[in-house]
Amino acid sequence: MSHREWWRDAVVYQIYPRSFADADGDGQGDLAGIRARLPYLVELGVDAVWLTPFYPSPMADGGYDVADFCDVDPRFGTLADFDALVADAAGHGIRVIVDIVPNHCSAEHPWFKQALAAEPGSPARERFIFRDEPNNWQSMFGGPAWTQVEDGQWYLHLFDSSQPDWNWRHPDVPALFEDVLRFWLDRGVAGFRVDVAGAMFKDAALPDLPPGTPPDAEPSPYSHQPETLAEHRRWRKILDSYGDRVAILEQWSDNPETMAPYLGDGQLQQVFNFTLMSTPWSAADWRAAIESSVAITAGRPVTAPWVLENHDAPRLATRLGVDQSIIRNPTEEALRGEIDIDRERGLRRARAAALIQLALPGSAYVYQGQELGLHEVLDIPADRREDPIFTRTAGAIFGRDGCRVPLPWSGDAPPYGFADHPVRTWLPQPGDWAGQTVAAQSADPGSMLNLYRTAVRLRREHLGSAPDPAFFDAGPGTLAFTRGPGFALVANLGEEPVALPAHTGTLLASGPLEGDLLPADTAVWVSR
Ligand code: NOJ
Repeated sequence: MSHREWWRDAVVYQIYPRSFADADGDGQGDLAGIRARLPYLVELGVDAVWLTPFYPSPMADGGYDVADFCDVDPRFGTLADFDALVADAAGHGIRVIVDIVPNHCSAEHPWFKQALAAEPGSPARERFIFRDEPNNWQSMFGGPAWTQVEDGQWYLHLFDSSQPDWNWRHPDVPALFEDVLRFWLDRGVAGFRVDVAGAMFKDAALPDLPPGTPPDAEPSPYSHQPETLAEHRRWRKILDSYGDRVAILEQWSDNPETMAPYLGDGQLQQVFNFTLMSTPWSAADWRAAIESSVAITAGRPVTAPWVLENHDAPRLATRLGVDQSIIRNPTEEALRGEIDIDRERGLRRARAAALIQLALPGSAYVYQGQELGLHEVLDIPADRREDPIFTRTAGAIFGRDGCRVPLPWSGDAPPYGFADHPVRTWLPQPGDWAGQTVAAQSADPGSMLNLYRTAVRLRREHLGSAPDPAFFDAGPGTLAFTRGPGFALVANLGEEPVALPAHTGTLLASGPLEGDLLPADTAVWVSR
């Protein structure tokens, strides 16, 4: 008899450990901090957490520069802290997913240090991609994707120069990562979020790109190689040998043809759906994005993990607070304050978007602070910024620090309970977060936090095994779908109030209704 895998419709909470909760008071979050806050996650109702990297790292790219894939960085704690976290989480019915970063390591990884110390052409260099001449590839973070070492050779790094790419054609590399998977599976993790999952193997010829091609153009000679898919199938066998474990691939493409091979039989189970992170606030655009995404997974043994926010993108409330008719997506101009951001409106829309996300089939990823409706922090001083994107573009692009600021838990001033005594947090918190804290929002029945708590509970009660969305017309500017006969979502992404369609009751609304009218930028779950 087939059973419904836990991950299909799970609500997964993304934790950025450095910014979640600081138990040891050094201004950076840690595993003990997460463990102490598990009751918060229980109250939120999440099924699992995904921890972004907490491995030993120089932190040149927020921990995605891993120096040892099988340990815990001392700033976050120890392996014993990790084991205790997994055990306590399990006691609360919460699974723990960890990040695996297979495209590159840190320049501090022992194998890269050996490669640097070795001669050109030596076996130690073969584990990475060293060449006598670079090709014309550019780094995703700006600047060239090659750095020259003292003896004149160049090595490839699709990201920062401190993140050398592995040569997946060298047998040591797949063997290392298969061991890494087993290491964490043996410690009880529920699965993996796979960083830059499509980029492991490169076209062996390393061909130049046509001049002017942006580094994230698809397809490219550094993504979607058949050998990558074959390696994922080997990983799937390892996961299956442990039972009900899952892998979720980070893949920024939403092109069905690119995605299809990753969603086939025997592949890893889920590919992130980032479509809604860049869809402008219009009913037609959201409907098209949802329909094409649902079509990609239809008939396959997979479901979409929907994402509105993560640690790589501007906060949703800020993105949706930008006039969507002038500017369709957040840009550096908006973040720099050169274009107005209507914070109230952005938050109203983010509340409506939460009800849309949580009504969709598949799993839902919620990035820490999304449930608090936090805005992007725009005024981080240049000398406190940490994202390599900022430095590699000489400050031309702000990068991702503004969505990574330590969470506000309680109190009226920094560190807002992030640590229990005054401390300089690794990124500065804004002075106006007193009303945003977990404590303040817990006490306010109308808060974003309480909206999330209720929505997650109702989702479980009403949408557990509900059918896929069936869209219907609820008037101009509306996005409306049923999930079976008894449940409908209606969201008003237009400018004018609309009449609510026939319903028997209101389960939850993202904002006040005007009698039987659904105001602009508001969503509602109704029973029918
Ligand atoms: C995607 C991660 O989410 C991002 O934070 C990181 O910088 C790159 N991959 C490189 O690992």
